[in-house]
Amino acid sequence: HLVASLEVEQSYIMIKPDGVQRGLVGEIISRFEKKGFKLTGLKLFQCPQELAEEHYKDLQSKPFFPKLIQYITSGPVVCMAWEGVGVVASARKLIGATNPLQAEPGTIRGDLAVQTGRNVIHGSDSPENGKREIGNLCCIL
Ligand code: TYD
Repeated sequence: HLVASLEVEQSYIMIKPDGVQRGLVGEIISRFEKKGFKLTGLKLFQCPQELAEEHYKDLQSKPFFPKLIQYITSGPVVCMAWEGVGVVASARKLIGATNPLQAEPGTIRGDLAVQTGRNVIHGSDSPENGKREIGNLCCIL
């Protein structure tokens, strides 16, 4: 659980291949823009396997890890850096629960997805991971 922060932070937000393929890029960017956060980096990117494994290294031992890597590398993703006070926790709220069936209506996953393995979007879970993910995966700042 993330406590609201008063610090200016960066969150790494990634629209996953299903979100790009389904044409949800504009809809998702619009939600962050309307909320009032600042877009400081963006690129369309075909994620190589090694970078996907580095990005999700904390989940390496999970049974779903191979499927997750296969999914993330299956097509282009949209990599973004969003900046603002408390953006990390706020983005997680905008995104909703990991399992889209448990995500509240009004959240991105709650409105736009059904399956955990096709949940449209990633958002950093801490300011430290925000920095790490923006640096490691994207080099867009
Ligand atoms: P996690 O970091 O737990 O969730 P979140 O993306 O909400 O921070 O998991 C990373 C991704 O791994 C998740 O978005 C989808 C995938 N995943 C599965 O495919 N099956 C699972 O049971 C879980 C927990 C995650």
